[in-house]
Amino acid sequence: MSEQLELDDWQPDRNLGMELVRATEAAAIKAANFVGRGDKNAADGAAVDAMRRFLSTVSMQGTVVIGEGEKDDAPWLYNGEVVGNGLGAECDVAVDPIDGTRLTADGRPGALSVIAVSDRGSMFDPSAVFYMDKLVCGPVGVGVVDIRKPMGENVRALAKAKGVDVSEIRVAVLDRPRHADLIREIREAGAGTRLLMDGDVAGGVNAARHDSKIDMCVGIGGTPEGIITACAVKALGGLIQGRLWPKDDEERERAIAAGHDLNEVLDQDSLVRSDNTYFVATGITAADFLDGVQYRGGFVRTESIVLRGHSGTVRHIVSEMRPDRWSE
Ligand code: FBP
Repeated sequence: MSEQLELDDWQPDRNLGMELVRATEAAAIKAANFVGRGDKNAADGAAVDAMRRFLSTVSMQGTVVIGEGEKDDAPWLYNGEVVGNGLGAECDVAVDPIDGTRLTADGRPGALSVIAVSDRGSMFDPSAVFYMDKLVCGPVGVGVVDIRKPMGENVRALAKAKGVDVSEIRVAVLDRPRHADLIREIREAGAGTRLLMDGDVAGGVNAARHDSKIDMCVGIGGTPEGIITACAVKALGGLIQGRLWPKDDEERERAIAAGHDLNEVLDQDSLVRSDNTYFVATGITAADFLDGVQYRGGFVRTESIVLRGHSGTVRHIVSEMRPDRWSE
C-alpha cells in the first residue's frame, strides 16, 4: 500500500488545544485592560473570569489540579473545580490565567495567559512544596546538561554541544536574591544571563524553543509552573528537570511525610505521566516569542502558541477580533 493510500485511510483526531486557545485569548484580552495600571488583583480577577467562561465551552471533563492559589487570592479556577462542557475525555487541567501578574500590573514584557491539559491523573501533585529548583533547555541539551552538575559545567557542556563559544550562551534566571550564587556561577563560566523579573513559564518555553536566543532557564520558581512547562517541553522536545525546594523546615517535613524524596530529579515524564498533553499560551504583554495584546485598526489582536505533546505540533495563532462584537 502506498504512503498516499495510507494517508487517505487515516482519520485525523481532535486537537483540544485549538479549543483551549480561545480561553487564553479571552483571559489575555481582559488582562490587557489592566496592563500598567498597578493593580495585579484586578488584572488577575478579569483574566480568571474570562478564562473560566471560555473553558466551559471546551469539550472535556476537566478537573483543575493546578489552579489559582492563595498567592493570587482568586475565588475561581481553584483546585478541584470541574471545568469543560462535561463531554469528551477526562483531563487534568492546569491554569495560570496570568503568569506574571506583577509584569502585567507594571506594564513590563513577558506576561502570558496559560493553560495546560493532560490525561486525568497524569500531572504531578504540586501541593506539598510551592517551589522547585528547575533546569529547562532545548533538544540539544538532552544528555548534555544535568541539574545535579555544577552550573559552570552545564554551561560549558551546552556550548560545546551547540558548537558555539560559551560567551554566546544565554541563561534565563528569575532575578531573586536566592539566585545570587547561581548567577555568579553562570557569569564566571563565561556565559551571559537574562534576568527575569517574573514569569518562568515564558522563560522555560523560550529555553526549549529551537529558534530562541535563550539556551537554558534555571533556578527556583513555582512547582505548578514547572508542571505546566513540562507540558510544553513534551511538544517542543528538550528537557525539564526539577527538584522540590521546600522554603522552610515545616514544608520540608510535610513533603517528607507525604512520601516525597527531596533529592529526586523529576523530569517531564515524571511531572506529567502522559504524552497526551496540550499547552496553550497567549501573550498579554510581549514575550520573546509572542506579541502582547494589541488594538490596531479597529481590531484587538492576540498571538498564541498551541503545543500538542502527542504529535509535537507547534502552532502560532494570530487572532484579530472586533472588540465590540467580541465582548457581546
Ligand atoms: P505569578 O504571576 O502567579 O505571581 O507568578 C510569577 C512567577 O514569577 C512565576 O513565573 C514563578 O514561577 C514564581 O512567580 C516565582 O515565585 P517568587 O516570585 O515567589 O519567586
